[in-house]
Amino acid sequence: MMRAALCIWIVSAVICVGRGHHHLGHAEVKDQVDQDTALDGSADSVSQVSSANKEFAHRLYRKLAAHADTQGKNIFFSPVSVSVALAALSVGARGETHRQLFSGLGFNSSLLTQTDVDQAFHTLLERANNASKEDASEGTAVFVDSRFKPRPEFLETLKQSYFSDGFNVDFTKTADSVKAINEYVDEKTHGKIDKLVEDLDPSTVMYLISYIYYKGKWASPFDPNLTKEDMFMVDDKTKVPVQMMNMEKLVDTYYDQAINTSVLHLPFNSSYSMLLLLPDDMATLENAICPNHITKWLKWMKSRIYDIYVPKFSIKSSYTLNDVLTEMGVTDMFGDRADLSGISEGQKLAVSNVVHQATLDVDEAGATAAAATGIGITLLSFRHVPVLKFNQPFMVVITERSTENVLFMGKIINPTI
Ligand SMILES: *[C@@H]1O[C@H](CO)[C@@H](O)[C@H](O)[C@H]1NC(C)=O
Ligand SMILES: *[C@@H]1O[C@H](CO)[C@@H](O)[C@H](O)[C@H]1NC(C)=O
Ligand SMILES: *[C@@H]1O[C@H](CO)[C@@H](O)[C@H](O)[C@H]1NC(C)=O
Ligand SMILES: *[C@@H]1O[C@H](CO)[C@@H](O)[C@H](O)[C@H]1NC(C)=O
Ligand SMILES: *[C@@H]1O[C@H](CO)[C@@H](O)[C@H](O)[C@H]1NC(C)=O
Repeated sequence: MMRAALCIWIVSAVICVGRGHHHLGHAEVKDQVDQDTALDGSADSVSQVSSANKEFAHRLYRKLAAHADTQGKNIFFSPVSVSVALAALSVGARGETHRQLFSGLGFNSSLLTQTDVDQAFHTLLERANNASKEDASEGTAVFVDSRFKPRPEFLETLKQSYFSDGFNVDFTKTADSVKAINEYVDEKTHGKIDKLVEDLDPSTVMYLISYIYYKGKWASPFDPNLTKEDMFMVDDKTKVPVQMMNMEKLVDTYYDQAINTSVLHLPFNSSYSMLLLLPDDMATLENAICPNHITKWLKWMKSRIYDIYVPKFSIKSSYTLNDVLTEMGVTDMFGDRADLSGISEGQKLAVSNVVHQATLDVDEAGATAAAATGIGITLLSFRHVPVLKFNQPFMVVITERSTENVLFMGKIINPTI
């Protein structure tokens, strides 16, 4: 297993080049605006949502990297999959729960309503699933317990804006429900994520899924004949053998002096690219990287002939995001304070957990990446037992019920004497 001290980002060149308003010249801004307004009048919310998604990606990365469970481990996740899943959840959130989700996702509620966000995701998902790009797919699904009746308007928004597939399941049959969810994700990720859900809380009434799959061929493939075993330096003390791919070719690179990081741009035979970032010091890069870096690198990259070496590898990661989301201020949805009354009016719901898995395979021909996010929604049981403890001075009355005569009455200050 390779422990990569190599930070890999798959970015959509379309989104990243076009959207950083602050760095674009007038002509480019105009092109971008024309493209968006040609589609519909909500260009502004689409660009606000996609720029919030980019910021969210980096904030989530930093939280994951800082987490004790990930120390010395690979990190790989799909921020877009997490954003889509949480945005779909926010359709049914109200009050403080909704405010926290919005602010956690980076949506400014004085500029964007939930409807704006829904329409923006509609546009973004439509673009991602454009039939002319067969190598990428992205979507959502909702599994609903057969006896649970969500508000029809909640399901309708999920279907219309998030292109959700809907399924009825019997969550009391836990093993069957787990199987149904896992089979769906397995199919959508072409077998890459076959066990998103390990187990389900028995009080689950709804399960929200988002998935993403991408398979790209390098615009210039590596020659398998040049792939050789080589050492990968995990840290000062640890070396591991890897299959190192090699090519000598005209490639786009950038050296970011401010953070001592070399950037290699490997385009796929599509509008997508992989950026490989090799820092002198990983912590410096991790703490600094933000959407503007990607804008800058893609813009200022220079072509020249390099002898490049990139390991061939397959990694898989799995996270429960409850802790990091809580650290990002999304707290209420997990407990008694959850307000998911937009999903169901009468019943008190809460999120039991948010799980995420991702895979990345890189070889001579290209790369395949897949991810899925699952959000379990449970019925809060009313078994919640309130506590009433007489552990301080109290009064006592002994009465006969029909006459209400007070037989005894007193005050207990200290029950021990
Ligand atoms: C939200 O947008 C308003 C209006 O542009 C701005 O004043 C405010 O600072 C923004 N809030 C955040 C958290 O960015
Ligand atoms: C789909 O892609 C084609 C070609 O790249 C483009 O002309 C079209 O506008 C795209 N459609 C959407 C909905 O983004
Ligand atoms: C992409 O792949 C197709 C088929 O494999 C090929 O015809 C085309 O030239 C490639 N395009 C680029 C930009 O490499
Ligand atoms: C790789 O090596 C094999 C056997 O030596 C040879 O037949 C083949 O043409 C080589 N492939 C390339 C792309 O050079
Ligand atoms: C980058 O490397 C140079 C030379 O080793 C060093 O002086 C500088 O402090 C480094 N900058 C950062 C941000 O680490």
